[in-house]
Amino acid sequence: MEPAGGGVFRTKTVEQSIRDTEEPEHALKKSLSALDLTVFGVGVIIGTGIFVLTGAVAKNNAGPATALAFVAAGVVCGLAALCYAEFASTVPVAGSAYTFSYASLGELPAWIIGWDLVLEFALGTAVVAVGWSGYVRSLMDHVGWNLPTGLAGTGGTDDFAFDLLAFLLVLLLTGILVLGMKLSARVTAVVVAIKVTVVLVVIIAGAFFINGANYDPFVPPAEKQAGGAGLDAPLVQLMFGYEPTNFGVMGIFTAASVVFFAFIGFDIVATAAEETKVPQRDMPRGILGSLFICTVLYVLVSIVVTGMQHYSELSIDAPLADAFKATGHPWYAGFISFGAAVGLTTVCMILLLGQTRVFFAMSRDGLLPRFFSRVHPTFRTPYRATVLLGVLIAVIAGFTSIEELATLVNIGTLFAFVVVAIGVIILRRTRPDLPRAFRTPLVPFLPIVSVAASLWLMINLPAETWVRFGIWMAIGIVVYFLYGRRNSRLGSDGSNATY
Ligand code: ALA
Repeated sequence: MEPAGGGVFRTKTVEQSIRDTEEPEHALKKSLSALDLTVFGVGVIIGTGIFVLTGAVAKNNAGPATALAFVAAGVVCGLAALCYAEFASTVPVAGSAYTFSYASLGELPAWIIGWDLVLEFALGTAVVAVGWSGYVRSLMDHVGWNLPTGLAGTGGTDDFAFDLLAFLLVLLLTGILVLGMKLSARVTAVVVAIKVTVVLVVIIAGAFFINGANYDPFVPPAEKQAGGAGLDAPLVQLMFGYEPTNFGVMGIFTAASVVFFAFIGFDIVATAAEETKVPQRDMPRGILGSLFICTVLYVLVSIVVTGMQHYSELSIDAPLADAFKATGHPWYAGFISFGAAVGLTTVCMILLLGQTRVFFAMSRDGLLPRFFSRVHPTFRTPYRATVLLGVLIAVIAGFTSIEELATLVNIGTLFAFVVVAIGVIILRRTRPDLPRAFRTPLVPFLPIVSVAASLWLMINLPAETWVRFGIWMAIGIVVYFLYGRRNSRLGSDGSNATY
């Protein structure tokens, strides 16, 4: 049946979005407070980014100036957060940027953003699960337990390799999510406390082991990249015909586009809007609060770590723990590895949760089969989408390695930021009447700056990341025109929806 009106730019009204969440068959339980959301945010934000990527980035791109890269990435996220907070407090239903776009930009842009978020969350979950597995294996090594080579991760081998631990972690977390939000929020709170303690120990204990000479030079001079102008060079350098370099001022931005991964997660707080008691008040608090706490911690951690060890000697696998080993404090190193392994569990779980919620919202709208949006009669969770995606992600985590996936996750997330910022401007024009518990300041100026800042980080990512992202999005457009456009609940008025 041909859609009632507007075609690919038909929008779902905000009232309709909220009404959908009240259908008992498709309604989630409202149980989260602002504190739960902040814990949730910190729980997912601090993870592989600070625990793992800091080392590689300091070593290859920015040296001690990695702290500035965190500031740059934090500013980009702060701008985006101000836009996310307005949207989340205006359209309090599951699905994050997807839902916001459906209410402002239209169905095709919403589909694109939903498809993009699938990439962000699914691959993000896989990346973190693989990082977690590395820390657990390093702890197991301490006590002399070793997995058979073929099951001990995909890094550094061309033979059959499967990351058994990452695979099992994702399956376990899927089970917990099926059992319900409240249980997972409680587990999250305990784990977040452990993780934040570990980060504070790194900062406070590490400060005593800083050698000032390691900060010289703070911004290492630019160096030509070994590989020349290949597709692995940042797009911006290829666009403007530079010979690709590491370090220097441009190196700080390359580093920022990678450590950006460390901030991913505050946007996921917005995906829990539908499960929040008072979203109009609690959402902005949860989003901005968790982002601020993490930015401060990251800057301090990177300053301490690059002060403890010369950047050229930092480890790539476990830089925080290894900096303590290098300064002769193995006890701290063991403690940090343990905390990192525990902490990464929540990151993985919340990314997976964000993923299932976006999928749930897209399915409820008929853009994906509605079969997946039925909630469990007892647990009130979208168990079908959770199980399907959990198994899929577990397999991806089992067979793939970290680095390229992380940059792909980043480009997807930054793209979502661009759409959300544009969405704020559009919704202010088209629906000025809607109550907004939180208003982005200086509209349209601030959203425009947010778009520019996100685009800047995007073009600092490798050209090959753009190619992969383009392929993924092209597949999404095909799926929309073959399935979503015909089955959309908005287009068909729900009358031919199948369950
Ligand atoms: N921000 C999360 C991390 O660093 C995704 O692992």
